[in-house]
Parts: sequence; C-alpha cells; structure tokens
Amino acid sequence: MDVQVQKAKSIRGTVTVPGDKSISHRALLIGSLADGTTEITGLSSAADPENTLACIRSLGTEVERSGEKTTIIGRGKRGYRRPAGPLDCGNSGTTMRLLSGILAGQTFSSELVGDESLSRRPMERVIAPLAKMGARIRSSERFTAPLNIEGVGRLSSIDYELPVASAQVKSAVLFAGMFADGITRVIEKQTARDHTERMLGLHTELKDGRRITSISGTHQIDPRSFVVPADISSAAYFIAAALILPGSELILHNVGLNPTRTVFLNVLRNVGAKISSENERVVCGEPLGDLRVKASELRAQFDLTKEVIPGVIDEIPILAVTAAVAGLSFAVTGAEELRHKESDRIHSIVVNLRSLGVDVEEYPGGFEFGPTKDLRGAEIESFGDHRIAMAFGVAGLAIPGVVVRASQSVEISYRGFWDELVRLSGH
Ligand code: S3P
Repeated sequence: MDVQVQKAKSIRGTVTVPGDKSISHRALLIGSLADGTTEITGLSSAADPENTLACIRSLGTEVERSGEKTTIIGRGKRGYRRPAGPLDCGNSGTTMRLLSGILAGQTFSSELVGDESLSRRPMERVIAPLAKMGARIRSSERFTAPLNIEGVGRLSSIDYELPVASAQVKSAVLFAGMFADGITRVIEKQTARDHTERMLGLHTELKDGRRITSISGTHQIDPRSFVVPADISSAAYFIAAALILPGSELILHNVGLNPTRTVFLNVLRNVGAKISSENERVVCGEPLGDLRVKASELRAQFDLTKEVIPGVIDEIPILAVTAAVAGLSFAVTGAEELRHKESDRIHSIVVNLRSLGVDVEEYPGGFEFGPTKDLRGAEIESFGDHRIAMAFGVAGLAIPGVVVRASQSVEISYRGFWDELVRLSGH
C-alpha cells in the first residue's frame, strides 16, 4: 500500500501515541516469568510486541486482553512448556534476542524464526555471550536466524563487557543470568536503554566510567503491575512535524521520559527547538510526562557523534529529515549499528534523501549533508522499515508530492500512524 502524504500548514492539538515498544516487550516477558498474575496497562498492540505476546502464548503462558488491560498468568521462571513448533518473532529483533536469553536456560529445546529482514540481522552478538554461559545455539553459517536453542537447563554466570552498545544484547544476557549459577554482570562503556534493569529491579553501579548491572541466578520475579508510557520514539515523528511546520503547537500526553531515550530532545533543543515538559512523574520506575512542542526556527547544525548514538539510535531517520526540511546541515558518524536495523538505515535514509533532492555523502558509519533548499516530492522507498516510512511521511507534510511506498510497515510500532498524521494536520 502507498500513501500520498498531503502537505500541511501546521500540526495542532493533542495526541497520545501507543505504548512504548521496548517496555511492552519486557512487560510481557517479565510477566510470563513471574510467579502469579501481572497486570499491564497501556501495552502496545503494534505488530512487534504482538509477536512477543504470541511467542509467550506458544510457550504455555495464559494472556488475556481487555481494553487497556492485559493480564498475564505467569507460572514462574521454570513454568514455560515446550512449544509445539517454531516461535515466530516476525520482524522483531527485540523478541528474538531477548527470548534467546530466556530459552537458553530452559530444559526443552526451541527454534526462533523471523521474517526476511529479521533473518538477515546479526545474532552472533547474542549467541557469543550466551555460548560463554554454556548455551547451545545453532544458527546459519552467517550467525543469522533461524536459531535452534537446545535447552541446557542451567547456565554458568559470566562478567560480560558489551562489545556493541545494545540494550537487546544486555537484556538477553541479564535474562539468561536468571538461569545461571552465581551472579552475572553486564558491563557497559556506553549506556544503552535501561528498561530491563529498571523493570527487574536490578542493582547497577558505576565503576571506572563503566556501568555494571548484576543479576543473580536465584532471581525470582514477583507478580506486579506495569503501566506502559507512550512511546517517545513514536512521539518523535509528531514532535518533528510540529517543530518544522510554522504555527504548530502540539501536546503529547504521558510520554516516557527515561533519560536513556530522551537524548534526541536535547539534540533538538540544542538547535533551537521549543519543547517543554509538564506533569513529570515516575510511574512503575519509569519517568513520564506531557510534552508541549511549538513550531521553532531551527538553526545551527546537527552533529551526531559516537557518544550520543546509543541514545538516539531509533531517532536518526527523523532527525535527518528534520534537518533536511529545516535547511540545516547534518552529520552523523560512528553509527555503524544503523546498518543492522530493520533495514540498513544508513542506506535507506541516504537513498530517500537523494530522491528529495538532498546532496548526501554516505560513509560506512554515517552520512552527511549541507544546508539544502528547494526539496522536491518523490516516491519514498520504506525498505519494509517502519521508522523510514514514518520519518519520510513527516517530510511529506512540508514537501508537496511525497508518496510513501509500502506504508503499512508503520504497523511494526504504530498502528494508525497515518490516520493520526492526517488528523493532527487538520485535513
Ligand atoms: C531496543 C533496543 C535497540 C533499538 C530497538 C529496541 C530494545 O536496539 O534500536 O528498536 O527494546 O532493547 P539495540 O539494542 O540492538 O541497539
């Protein structure tokens, strides 16, 4: 399906975007390992978390959904049953990587499969640490899915320094640590999103500039409730739209404001964005609040370097579009990780910016462009990647004639995105 985006004068009103995708995955997995009933409010019903939900059901977990509430009847960390067939993670890297850590410590064997995009993504990053813990995981020769996990029952603890800043790898090792003898420690040079630590209530310390998170093999999960904040990474598209369209003013409710996720707000504020937060509070260990965004005259250049990349990893497509539409120069370096997302995002961004008339230079670990005027409408290729479709959809509010191809990919994280875009732009 293609979407012809209508040019808009401004973005106005209020919006509550769907529940945070990262927190939704974790709430489901943690609930499935708890001993008793977990209640989740505001779980995302996007395709990615739905894949996690289907997987835990296949592993014998009872899940009921009723309106805003999801109830999970966990049977403890040893309560899964052998699945009848392969566990389908769809497009979701988070599902596959986090579940690998949990399944490695089970007493039965299982297989994780994914769609074409997920079957190309690197899994060595989880296979390597889990193998060090004694897991037996077979993959393709190129360390991609399908993953065959032979349940070894009990793993050995490790101290593991992450070679890439990745919350998915960190979480896979921490989950596996629940099934290991002794204390497992994950050491980070750069902090990736910390939802797993917060939601499991783990001990974290800072030592010699490194962040160390520990989990004991005796860790048990008590049933509890989770309230999932609205996903700041989904909010990012409307925030950008409001900033670049003159006369805009937008309020976004209950947005997750975890500092490992809000770095792009600081990047935008540094170039002049008027974004303020109200009603800040902490709910179930996660900060959240309402954001007020006003159209802003953005100035200065965007310069994203290695240290900030883990904090803005999912927002680079929309930051690049924001800079291009605002006529600002943009440079990102040290972002090789972008090549391993739902698409090769460096390539996807560069190809689509060029179609819009931006003169972009591509590098192995990033790309850059100077101030551009007179962008033109074009057909945007989503590459099956939700964040590419949404970011360039926003470009279409400012540039006439933008058509987003395979626009349904937004459903991975945001069902109803296109309708909200139309509603807020007053068409
Ligand atoms: C996620 C972590 C990030 C992010 C992804 C979700 C998570 O990936 O890009 O959208 O929920 O842990 P990496 O941990 O691989 O960087």
